[in-house]
Amino acid sequence: MSQDTPKKFYQMSIPERLAHLEEQTDLSAEDLAALAGESGLSVSAADHMIENVVGLHSLPLGIAQNFIINGREVLVPMAIEEPSVVASASFMAKLARPTGGFHASTTAPEMIGQMQLLDLKDPAKARDEILFHKADLLAEIADLDPLLKSLGGGPRDLEVRLVGESPIGSFLVVHLVYDVRDVMGANAVNTAVEALAPRIEALTGGRVHLRILSNLADRRLARATVSIKLADLAFEGFSGERVRDGVIEAWAFAVADPYRAATHNKGIMNAVDPIVIATGNDWRAVEAGAHAYAARSGRYTSLTTWGKDEQGNLSGSIEMPMAVGIVGGATRVHPTAKACLKLMGVKSAAELAEIIVSVGLAQNLAALRALSTEGIQKGHMALHARQVAIAAGAREEQVEMLARQLVSEKRIRIDRAQEILRSWSE
Ligand code: MEV
Repeated sequence: MSQDTPKKFYQMSIPERLAHLEEQTDLSAEDLAALAGESGLSVSAADHMIENVVGLHSLPLGIAQNFIINGREVLVPMAIEEPSVVASASFMAKLARPTGGFHASTTAPEMIGQMQLLDLKDPAKARDEILFHKADLLAEIADLDPLLKSLGGGPRDLEVRLVGESPIGSFLVVHLVYDVRDVMGANAVNTAVEALAPRIEALTGGRVHLRILSNLADRRLARATVSIKLADLAFEGFSGERVRDGVIEAWAFAVADPYRAATHNKGIMNAVDPIVIATGNDWRAVEAGAHAYAARSGRYTSLTTWGKDEQGNLSGSIEMPMAVGIVGGATRVHPTAKACLKLMGVKSAAELAEIIVSVGLAQNLAALRALSTEGIQKGHMALHARQVAIAAGAREEQVEMLARQLVSEKRIRIDRAQEILRSWSE
């Protein structure tokens, strides 16, 4: 490496990466220590978070590079055990830079709280009653959360759905639409539906059974678009047209076939979950929302769309629910989550959601590009080989060389790695 060429982030050692972050961001020494795994969540804090705590469970934390999202450079923290996700997201973000990166937006942060209304003599009449008294009912819970209200959130609407057929016959479902601003919203919504339920019962004479938020957060959507120049898609023996059309064909497979769509969307979640986890958010909620949304038409399908624009460039978009917060829950308790939010410089839950779906879209492109050209294994193998080398007991300074040898021999196996290590020590 010449003196003049600055090292790329991936070429740096871990201390160099941390020093680089210290220089390039306004992260404090405390934040950096949390990212580095030197401090972060303590066992005693963890003991207050869940039950029967015995310790902590760690994941690698990497930082995706090259992302421009809505005109802003963003460093993206990703907590994930799977090799090649951080590298391939960063690479796709690099390809997107000449066209300005990713453009993302969100709908209002409205969550849905459900009330299951049973034992009604006349469900149609009950529905009319609820809708007639909608304004009063919403007013009843308007002051329930003064902080949320002061920030502009709170109850927005009531919807009533008739479930015609179920194992227990028909019943009504009342949806409370609740603007949760910058929190994930589960607690706020659950509190609101529990408070509203007795009023619904009094009004209709029915019995409110379940009162719980819906993870199909289809009113809290995040969207992103990207365009990649044809010339930037070309690599090795593959022309830009070949890569672009290959990506579109691969996407069409996911649109039409749920077996493929599940894997296609898993690839998107490869980028979504690591950011959700890094920021202390509820990844199970985001997963549930993603897959339910992907099946909203009655057939499970792709969360992304790929096509070509008038110039022949590859254009992609994503739309999915994104129930994440930047206040409340673990986002503010967990020192690493706090540092990750600070690293991204997000000021609202919407901004976080916009980053997450942009990286999800990048990751989907990385997978489709690889799958429709050289296949997924080539890129995976180099990283997998490093893991095998470590598992075989390679010392830090041996890992790279051993991994390279395993790849060149096309024998990425622990027994072979141990054999090589033994030969080196003879
Ligand atoms: C692997 O973790 C993810 C992929 O299977 C995604 C895809 O097939 O689109 C490569």
